[in-house]
Amino acid sequence: MEKKNNSFSGTVGFILAAAGSAIGLGNIWRFPYYAAKNGGGVFLATYLFLLLTFGITLLITEISIGRKTKHSPLKAYGVIHPRWRWIGIFSTLVPFIILPYYCVIGGWVLKYFTVFLCGNLEHAVDPGYFGAYITGMAQPLAFMAVYIFLTAFVIYRGINEGIEKMSRILMPILLLLVIAIAIFCLTISHNDGTVTRTGLEGLWIYLVPDISGMTVGDFFSVILDAMGQLFFSISVAMGIMIAYGAYFDDCGNIFKSATQIEFFDTFVAFLAGVMIILPVYVFLGKEGMSASGPSLLFVSMPKVFNAMGAVGHVVGAAFFLMVFFAALTSSISIMEAVISSLMEAFSWSREKATIIEGIIAVAIGVLVCLGYNVLYFEMPLPNGATGQILDLFDFFSNNIFMPVVAIATCLLIGWGVTPAVVIEEMTKNGEEFRFKGIYSVMIRFIVPLLLLILFLQSVGILKV
Ligand code: PFF
Repeated sequence: MEKKNNSFSGTVGFILAAAGSAIGLGNIWRFPYYAAKNGGGVFLATYLFLLLTFGITLLITEISIGRKTKHSPLKAYGVIHPRWRWIGIFSTLVPFIILPYYCVIGGWVLKYFTVFLCGNLEHAVDPGYFGAYITGMAQPLAFMAVYIFLTAFVIYRGINEGIEKMSRILMPILLLLVIAIAIFCLTISHNDGTVTRTGLEGLWIYLVPDISGMTVGDFFSVILDAMGQLFFSISVAMGIMIAYGAYFDDCGNIFKSATQIEFFDTFVAFLAGVMIILPVYVFLGKEGMSASGPSLLFVSMPKVFNAMGAVGHVVGAAFFLMVFFAALTSSISIMEAVISSLMEAFSWSREKATIIEGIIAVAIGVLVCLGYNVLYFEMPLPNGATGQILDLFDFFSNNIFMPVVAIATCLLIGWGVTPAVVIEEMTKNGEEFRFKGIYSVMIRFIVPLLLLILFLQSVGILKV
């Protein structure tokens, strides 16, 4: 693995880059949707509890594996224990599959940013606009290719000059945008002819736990939603935190850094809820709050910005710029996980690996884009949804490979070696780690069991 000028300069650089990875599309289009669907505060409280138990266990484990072995995800597992080398192949496959389709979505975000920037909001308001755009030919392909080029450019420049420098610039801007837009959303109100709804009423709906009519089964499904979202959001089980961990300073405090990464990730997810749930409630009412994923971002939000009047153009442009930065810092980390593995597997230079993987990602990205026009099909998925090529990729990576990698990682650390391997790495500079006992129980029993339940539910075997 490369040294010199190719590791983070210190703890701050590492935290910004890793938080940049964690804060992504998942925070913006999935977290608010789950919160709205699962009784607001009930979801938030469950999520926070899981973050401090389940999430932190997985995050410190992966960062420690990376830093201890100083290898890419492909090799790191085999260095911990040769018999578990196979996990490395899966954990490299995950970012390899995710990168092209994440960049296709990144291209959509870039397109919407340019629409708002050019003052063409009224086009984007048309309910058919988004569908017509993604089923088109030239534009989605071009925006995807530009987006991959931007991602690859940062990777090409290396850890220090590329990833860290970019994170130091984009992350503060991202946080400022998030805070500014969220504060603005607290101040809005709208009268639709019959009632006036305010941002503060929306905040009430978002925050106050709504347990009316909630059964035990419903609560179980809130836990599963929160766990699935958390797992996706903190970028574990996809090689990223191992790759970044390998570039982390040996003197840095892993536990403290991991808690800070989680804090930033959750802070942005929470504020994403403020800037999405509040205006959707104010301008579209409670019925508007059932949209999720792409339709929430690309159909509901333009409607909301349009309803805001002239100021909506500016707020909308700022919003899509913020989403673009969030997506870019994530796709960079996804690509780095693949690049570091390719460099080690074939002894390629960073430049060569970046160019080859960039070309492969564009080629697969073309296939994903064509999935909405010439290659269109409707594929029923085991979790009950139907999807196109993008959803199929998403299903395999998130519902199958990621849980397998995460469960196998727990078994390797909990039983194949011992939790002491991770604890030693975390305390090697004399750092205090008060939760050694809890960590061991979590990684051996609780986390793999929870992951197994999540896996069975996401492939449709367990129904809740
Ligand atoms: N954690 C990032 C997000 O929430 O968008 C990055 C990411 C996670 C990308 C999982 C893709 C993915 F499947």
